[in-house]
Amino acid sequence: MIVPKPVRSETRPGTFVLTGRTALTADPALGEVAAWLRAELCPFTGGELLPSGPGPGTITIGLGDLPPEAYRLTVAEDGVAIVAGGPAGAFYGAQTLRQLLPPEAFRRAAAGGSCEVPAVHIEDEPRFGWRGCILDVARHFMTKHDLLRFIDLMAMHKLNVLHLHLTDDQGWRLEIRRYPRLTEVGSWRKESQTGWNGTMDGRPHGGFYTQDDIREIVAYAARRHIMIVPEIDLPGHTQAAIAAYPELGNLSTPLEVRTTWGIGVNVLNVEDSTITFFQNVFDEVLELFPSPYVCVGGDECPKDQWRTSPAAQRRMSELGLTHEDELQSWFIHQFDDYLTARGRRLVGWDEILEGGLAPGAVVASWRGDLGAVAAAKAGHDVITCPNTAVYFDYRQGPGEDEPVPFGTVLTLDDVYAFEPIPEELRGEEAAARVVGSQCGVWTELIDSNRRVDYMTFPRLSAFAETVWSSAGRDLADFRRRLAAHLPRLAAIGVEYRREDGPLPWQTRPGVPGRPEDPVEWQAQLDAWTSNLREPR
Ligand code: ACM
Repeated sequence: MIVPKPVRSETRPGTFVLTGRTALTADPALGEVAAWLRAELCPFTGGELLPSGPGPGTITIGLGDLPPEAYRLTVAEDGVAIVAGGPAGAFYGAQTLRQLLPPEAFRRAAAGGSCEVPAVHIEDEPRFGWRGCILDVARHFMTKHDLLRFIDLMAMHKLNVLHLHLTDDQGWRLEIRRYPRLTEVGSWRKESQTGWNGTMDGRPHGGFYTQDDIREIVAYAARRHIMIVPEIDLPGHTQAAIAAYPELGNLSTPLEVRTTWGIGVNVLNVEDSTITFFQNVFDEVLELFPSPYVCVGGDECPKDQWRTSPAAQRRMSELGLTHEDELQSWFIHQFDDYLTARGRRLVGWDEILEGGLAPGAVVASWRGDLGAVAAAKAGHDVITCPNTAVYFDYRQGPGEDEPVPFGTVLTLDDVYAFEPIPEELRGEEAAARVVGSQCGVWTELIDSNRRVDYMTFPRLSAFAETVWSSAGRDLADFRRRLAAHLPRLAAIGVEYRREDGPLPWQTRPGVPGRPEDPVEWQAQLDAWTSNLREPR
């Protein structure tokens, strides 16, 4: 009953009895994994799981000749053995062991102190190396505490990349020492749009992570074998930065941090000073985030202001460019060169393909599959994250009481059916360019951690299986395992979406109710949805 499903699992007769007096020993190279497992199990067992336990039975964690993320887990009457290719594999083996325990083992208090673990032999390793989630902490801030909890939930599902969307029109969430106004001004907006009918909530919203917070978050994630890929979105999605430093924009009138959703027209100007400003920002970002990958966004940049700006037009003629799209490509190249020179790899949304890229650049393909296919064929590594399949801001059912009235419905079963390799690449050599996938938690209308829980789970459980488990899906089998998995989420306190739809508090207040006439209702949904980031 493991989620995501292991490659091979064979039940055996007998049980192992886990108590607080069970011993836990590990190869010295795996000491961190042992410490993590001990910390997770002790609240449940009420005992300490010392390296040489006073009771019968031992959990041993050791190294073997396996790939780094692979593990073998054997539970027998006299002991539990995890053998892994490296610390990541050992960690995944330990996560699987937790799922063999009753759901109470996910609570923070002793529940009887002992349990029987069914004997089993599991051999497991991931299908893809990039098993990610984009978390948008810019549209709605997520507190550090909730972010650490989110990291734990990702780790429980054996995901290993957190793509952190730190900046956008509506908020700048990262302390930059050189430019304090980015957070002093850019981390707060005076109110937020609540639905698609123009209603505003009238309440300020904001928050940011200090550099010390970030160091803590990065280390916490690393201990759970999750790499954090920071995203500073450029040259669009930058109104919060322009509000803080107006010289970055194209207008002579000041701007506020944006309060509404949809694609914004206020984008960065193309002055050398603006490029330098953001390279200075990245100097601090690179210090904070050791990840080999850094995302510069590159999506949804309307060119209207560049078209009417004499300075942008002058820049185009200096560079010999004939179209504003080429200016966007030039802009992204400045950061591609900057990152490559510092040994990092640029990640960008599929819009960055327009105009050619450095060979090391990685494309996150979100507008269906087109970007993924083009990028893979051009020899770029690709992360697939099609909005139509793995965007968790889409509503989960057709009911009008779903909290976010998106026109597109993306059910749990839809997510489970997602195949990370686009159809057009299957059987092609270029398919090897798909390094994995990531699901998206975009938070325009997800205004609290409770709503993140509702929109993300259990769809993230289904997504995890698409990137971890072997190709091919068995929905009935997944649903059986999910039935055993949901009580684990409940024990942790995750307010996931129930099969029968939202609880009354989970519905979205402030969004007009459904008109009597279903045709009129659909038209209303379509109208609201078309207001959202085209061409979604
Ligand atoms: C995106 O959803 N604009 C990447």
